[in-house]
Amino acid sequence: MAHPLAVVVLAAGAGTRMKSALPKVLHPIAGWPMIRHVLAAAQTLRPDRIVVVGPPGRDDVARAVAPVPCLVQDRPLGTGHAVKAALPALKGFRGDVMVMFGDSPLLTAASLRRLLAARRKVAGRGRDRVALGVLGFRAADPTPYGRLVRNEAGDLDRIVEGRDASADERRIDFVNSGVMVIDGALLPAWLRRLRNDNVKGEYYLTDLVAIARRAGRRCVAVEGSEAEFRGVNDKTDLAAAEAAMQARLRQAALDGGVTMTDPATVWLAADTRFGRDVSVGPNTVFGPGVTVGDGVTIHGFCHIEAATIGAHSSVGPFARVRSGTRTGRDVHIGNFIELKNTSLGDGTKANHVSYLGDGDIGARVNIGAGTIFVNYDGFGKWRTVVGDDAFIGSNSSMIAPVRVGRGANVTAGSVITADVAADAVAFGRARQVDKPKAATPLRTKLKARAKTAKDEGWKMQARAPRR
Ligand code: UD1
Ligand code: MG
Repeated sequence: MAHPLAVVVLAAGAGTRMKSALPKVLHPIAGWPMIRHVLAAAQTLRPDRIVVVGPPGRDDVARAVAPVPCLVQDRPLGTGHAVKAALPALKGFRGDVMVMFGDSPLLTAASLRRLLAARRKVAGRGRDRVALGVLGFRAADPTPYGRLVRNEAGDLDRIVEGRDASADERRIDFVNSGVMVIDGALLPAWLRRLRNDNVKGEYYLTDLVAIARRAGRRCVAVEGSEAEFRGVNDKTDLAAAEAAMQARLRQAALDGGVTMTDPATVWLAADTRFGRDVSVGPNTVFGPGVTVGDGVTIHGFCHIEAATIGAHSSVGPFARVRSGTRTGRDVHIGNFIELKNTSLGDGTKANHVSYLGDGDIGARVNIGAGTIFVNYDGFGKWRTVVGDDAFIGSNSSMIAPVRVGRGANVTAGSVITADVAADAVAFGRARQVDKPKAATPLRTKLKARAKTAKDEGWKMQARAPRR
């Protein structure tokens, strides 16, 4: 039997405890805004509908969750009030509604499935069916969470927020993760019954449990682990969630066959993709959007984001590979190379100390030490194009826009301001002048000048004493 599912992700809270101008759900974890992790877990359930509830006037939240639609909660009057704001997106929907919080980035799809299964298990018929289920966990410190109060049968009876709890209730360490699944047919009517007569003066979603019980319906709590369910409310939680996510991603990379000499110092993004026989040295940071091909070696101390590294290439140590970099196979990117929005063809080498920005470099090109692609003129960015088999001598500046033809040779120290034809040799520098026997007289002159300055009490300065 098909079970239609709608997911509502709440992200309109003030996030006051983060002490930040950035909405809480946009703070990054493993290179993704926190809420993208929640959406990714939800999407694996293939919901029929999914919607985010965001704060007013924050295009950044809407952009971060797109193409998932974002409805606005005018004012943050509580989690129950926020779900009401999502009702227009649920018009005509019949099935289960799962509510999740944008601030629980460690949730896994497996737990969400367990919760759905509990709600869908037909225990008897009709009114005996579970109308509402929540994911709960045992918290080492339950203080920030809603307590799950159960009846003798072990069913969920109500949820009490810490601030509203009695001394006895406060001692309960079984708490609400924030994930709730509700029979969608009952949700709108139950939301209308929420009141804000609590310490915070908010419409708590958690009060739906008591409302369901008063209507004579069953509610259940499904237990999971704190490591997965804990929410992010402040910067300490954020750092803890990052650490937990990194541990998970490193383990997945190791399980997938990546060699890491010191995994604890390798920082991964949620979407980092590795081929076979990849090796990653210590202190390497992956930003989002990186794909690493088979047999690639990344030496330590590299920073790589939004880039594709072709098979059997070697990167670093100390390379910075920025967004839009794409390399072919067998490419060498050595120490102190910065790449940005540049492509490198098969077998190309840039081994030492270069900035290569906005370039299209062909195959088997050698980029000498100290080469700079001068891509910015203060107003616009321009491209440098280098053909296959070209040789760029050390300490060359390529003043873009400029093209170097196939097989051309740019001599060391050149400043290239005009296109270089295929197979040409380009000298973009002053010709060397040797003055025979001129070194000794020059030495004598410089020595005399220094003595005069000392005798006359000149300090070292920009203007030398006149003779
Ligand atoms: C909430 C739960 C608590 C649970 C805990 C789990 C309620 C009343 N409390 O408390 O039982 O143990 O999460 O982490 O539900 N939000 C809105 N609009 C609002 C208020 C909040 O969209 O008006 C969103 C927030 O952006 C956030 C989520 O709802 O993503 C939870 O809000 P938060 O203020 O963090 O609730 P907690 O106090 O953590
Ligand atoms: Mg919270």
